[in-house]
Amino acid sequence: MKTYYITTPIYYVNDVPHIGHAYTSLACDVMARFKRLDGYNVMFLSGTDEHGQKIAKAAEKAGIDPQAFTDKVSQNFRILLKNINISNDDFIRTTEERHKKACQALWNELLKRGEIYLGKYAGWYAMRDEAYYTEDELKDVDGKKIAPSGAECEWVEEPSYFFKLSAWGDRLLKFYEENPDFILPISRRNEVISFVKSGMRDLSVSRTAITWGVPVPDEPKHVMYVWLDALTNYLTAIGYPDTNADTFKKFWPADVHMVGKDILRFHAVYWPAFLMAAGLPAPKRVFAHGWWTNEGQKISKSLGNVIDPVELLATYGLDQTRYFLMREVPFGNDGDFAREAMIRRINSDLANGIGNLAQRSLSQIAKNCGGLVPTPKEYTDKDKALLQSAENLLPHLRSLFDVQSFSKALDAIWGVIAEADRYVDEQAPWALKKTDIARMETVLYVLAETLRHLGIVLQPFMPDASNALLDQLAVPADARSFAHLNAANALTPGRPLPAPQGIFPRYIEAAKP
Ligand code: MSP
Repeated sequence: MKTYYITTPIYYVNDVPHIGHAYTSLACDVMARFKRLDGYNVMFLSGTDEHGQKIAKAAEKAGIDPQAFTDKVSQNFRILLKNINISNDDFIRTTEERHKKACQALWNELLKRGEIYLGKYAGWYAMRDEAYYTEDELKDVDGKKIAPSGAECEWVEEPSYFFKLSAWGDRLLKFYEENPDFILPISRRNEVISFVKSGMRDLSVSRTAITWGVPVPDEPKHVMYVWLDALTNYLTAIGYPDTNADTFKKFWPADVHMVGKDILRFHAVYWPAFLMAAGLPAPKRVFAHGWWTNEGQKISKSLGNVIDPVELLATYGLDQTRYFLMREVPFGNDGDFAREAMIRRINSDLANGIGNLAQRSLSQIAKNCGGLVPTPKEYTDKDKALLQSAENLLPHLRSLFDVQSFSKALDAIWGVIAEADRYVDEQAPWALKKTDIARMETVLYVLAETLRHLGIVLQPFMPDASNALLDQLAVPADARSFAHLNAANALTPGRPLPAPQGIFPRYIEAAKP
């Protein structure tokens, strides 16, 4: 069986879940559902990043010990994933025993291979990013040292182990060249290549100033640098250090690590270097998506404009929100969240688009065909063209999903919806009722069969709404995978259909008080 391994970043638990967490998780979910429907054995991983200085500080501020703190806040992320209907197969926490074991094994492997040595770090560190910076990367603002990300840096001097990153530049460049799709989108790939070409210093991979982390084996004063710890989660969840484990053999190397653009360097530079240095294959792809702004403004806690995903769901609906986030912005670009754009999408694409097409087709079937799947007679060229367009969708979607082009995939699906709308207007089945019942049945059958295709391919994006649509077409639950997207599995004429119900209501603005 074909396998597919996809991961979200693991989320820092000090923050409340926001749109960024929802967005990466959703993109992975859409991808994972697509692959499952396409017959793959999928492993979809998410989880929480619970060690490091930032989390230790947050626990201190909350006045509880870090373990109790992370036990509590990690739950918020599980709840978020459940609320947005994310179908992850596992949820990893970096404070779990299995993860400590994996991190220490990877450490020992790197040490054994001479890739790690003991030294002393003296330089800048940004707790917010959990990242090291060189002097020339920083700006002086009001006497403070500020990283390009906007995070404030502090001067750190401590004994530290180092990973010999400086020795990996050429091998990384060769790896990028041999794997042109490793970093997507392409613009991001170029950015990473110039960073590596500019020369890299060895990377500090242990800390002695903090204690909240995975202990370095046989070095009680050191805990591992939180990014080495965090990245290793992708191995832990599939059984590392047991590289003979069934899950490890099936799923490593991962197919995609989905990340935001701000954490690309960790995934596309450090991570493949760690892995290659430990004698393991690098993942097949790192996809860096863009960032959302809120009504044109950068999202930040201090501006008070953080978007709460749960509030979005409550206001606009689950599948509506999922649709908007995947459709509005080409995946990889930055995007703006605007209320008006959201409402426009709901009303024109969902209510007037797929919702209206389903409603007008199904209600005519209910009224004029006795609530049974109509019986088609001979197909005209127009009928055949529409059915063909529906059947052509899958190969097209596969190639778009292969490069994570989710919004283009939705464009393609909406292309068929628009074609079906034109078809129904031209064929006017309501008029045929009086003149040619057989032709009316054929037209309505073609529409119902087109809706079956649309319902099946929309499942990754809008699982609830598309299943409601497939229920209304009486498509059995075990006949909804991509293997059923062919004429052999077409709707059975004469099968009774349930009473049609609207799938996407219009969004009506509540009157201002
Ligand atoms: N813990 C690290 C990841 C470790 S992975 C081995 C981390 N966590 S995070 O919680 O801060 O970030 C989670 C994700 O949210 C990142 O991919 C980040 O890019 C994303 N976003 C945060 N704000 C965002 C927006 N405003 N818009 C879109 N995504 C954004 O980083």
